[in-house]
Amino acid sequence: MCGIVGYVGPNDTVDALLGGLRRLEYRGYDSAGIAVLDERGGLAVRKRAGKLARLIELVEASPVAAGGTGIGHTRWATHGGPTDENAHPHLGDGGKLAVIHNGIIENFAELRAEVEAGGVELISETDTEVVAALLGLEVARLGDLERAFRAVVVRLHGTFTLLALHRDAPGTVVAARHNSPLVVGLGDGENFLGSDVAAFVAHTRRAVAVDEDNIAVITPDEVRITDFSGDPVEFAEFEVAWNADAAEKGGWPSFMAKEITEQPEAIANTVRGRIVGGTADGDGAADAAGGARVEIPELTELGDDTLRNIDRIVIIACGTASYAGQIGAYAIEQWARVPVEVQLSHEFRYRDPVLDERTAVISVSQSGETMDTLMAVKYAKDRGALSVSVCNTQSATIPRESDAAVYTHAGPEVAVASTKAFTAQIAALYLIGLHLGRVRGTLSDADAAAAIRAFDALPSAMAEAVETHEQIAQLAHWMADTRSVLFLGRHVGYPAALEGALKLKEIAYIHAEGFAAGELKHGPIALIDHGQPVFVLVPSPRKAPVMHSKVVSNIQEIRARGARVIAIVEKGDTAVLPYADDVIRLPLTDALFEPLVQVVPLQWFALELSTAKGLDVDQPRNLAKSVTVE
Ligand code: F6R
Repeated sequence: MCGIVGYVGPNDTVDALLGGLRRLEYRGYDSAGIAVLDERGGLAVRKRAGKLARLIELVEASPVAAGGTGIGHTRWATHGGPTDENAHPHLGDGGKLAVIHNGIIENFAELRAEVEAGGVELISETDTEVVAALLGLEVARLGDLERAFRAVVVRLHGTFTLLALHRDAPGTVVAARHNSPLVVGLGDGENFLGSDVAAFVAHTRRAVAVDEDNIAVITPDEVRITDFSGDPVEFAEFEVAWNADAAEKGGWPSFMAKEITEQPEAIANTVRGRIVGGTADGDGAADAAGGARVEIPELTELGDDTLRNIDRIVIIACGTASYAGQIGAYAIEQWARVPVEVQLSHEFRYRDPVLDERTAVISVSQSGETMDTLMAVKYAKDRGALSVSVCNTQSATIPRESDAAVYTHAGPEVAVASTKAFTAQIAALYLIGLHLGRVRGTLSDADAAAAIRAFDALPSAMAEAVETHEQIAQLAHWMADTRSVLFLGRHVGYPAALEGALKLKEIAYIHAEGFAAGELKHGPIALIDHGQPVFVLVPSPRKAPVMHSKVVSNIQEIRARGARVIAIVEKGDTAVLPYADDVIRLPLTDALFEPLVQVVPLQWFALELSTAKGLDVDQPRNLAKSVTVE
């Protein structure tokens, strides 16, 4: 939420900033702006409400001859609407310094009164301009950007990543973080700052994750990191696991389309190296009959006794990640025989949850920066719980705050609507369930072998599910005027139905609800009227015959009341044919693994309906990818 980028070096500064912002735009797209020290030593600012393209137009119409120091911002509005005035950067010290900010300054009203009393006239409604003004006053008092910056950050309450530059300190950008992400990119004679590595991965894959409550000062030849009082801290470099091409559209009409099709690979990459022993097939999975087992080194490091000691698991997450958590809960409970509950992160810590050292809290987060989830993780840790993170972003804050991190290897997810990260999260949670079940002695050999075989077959089953695109595109085309869609599922199909509904709300702006099929008769069936479209996720008649027959009955019930039924079935399932208006056929997989293939046509449906309505698939209104405010 809000993307920030900083650059110091000899290369084209504006290009580095705009390139970084383009890759960070998924974090917020209400407005964008840059501030650069120009070649004559002046400070030039270009900023505009609207998407990055509008800023680029402005920069083309009114170029700046940048002199090697700059900062850039793409905004998701919090304080103050998305206007030109409220766009970042904001100026202080009579226009000599510029500040950009991701987060919320909670004591801004008090600080605003202070700077106004000090004679500064503010022109925006933002909390950030107050920080810029305060920094200006401190620079005037202390005569030095770094000292002034330190004096300011300790006075701020709330969340922030702040970047600042000053006309009198060319070649330097200072940055600080408190509960908001900040990464340094290490170049050769140039250095970068970013909200995440996407900001600079086109230039360097060497990165440093800045720790909580630290300040980074970059110059072309040096990176220094200190705590808020100025004492140096040690930092470790890591190499970004993907290259810039992975975050490019590469000929696809949208990132979401690209990411949907990448799911087979994302799953294979997430599983690779975590199924060991047996007759490895060279692709990360193994022949279960040959004695393969799931072993996640990051969990092994926690110690088997610790894992055996767990008597309760709480999965915390938001949105799509919480649906992955709900699906994962079925599998973990089944295999590890430990009670699992799923809580929305933002509800979790306000309910005074019962937690102790025998509770494992598993957080699920694509970005690893979601503030609600981060706060819930910290809360759980403070109360002695074991914290395990399922995350898709290397060195993000949540995995670094956790006792163990189980990364999904889905690659960068750029579209705001999550697709490949969702299925990779389910895969990672299943792997955790299998690891726990093995260590705790609750997983039967037969179940282990079946799950490993299912993992083995999953990428090709998902690739087949991706092939439903054309059929779904046609369906969406006919349904372009639809105003409401319902989704039904049972067992693991229920959270998958919730996810199908969320995708549609999110990118096609259509009212959609997901229901547990069994719940229908307890109220929601009153919604069914003539022509009401209902997607039904039908369990396999072979793998889950009891649930299958119940869902077929539910289909008959809604059909009798006029619903238009779109049934997602296993190939060869003919039981639903008399009652379904449309049938989408998917390959056979194990019952627990069905959501991983069933969700793919639902993702396509949302994408195609959004496209049919002429909407921006990748950047839906009001949203941002990484929600770093509470
Ligand atoms: C929906 C979506 C969101 C995220 C949620 C959590 O498509 O992407 O609902 O799942 O904001 O984000 P992360 O996983 O980054 O914590």
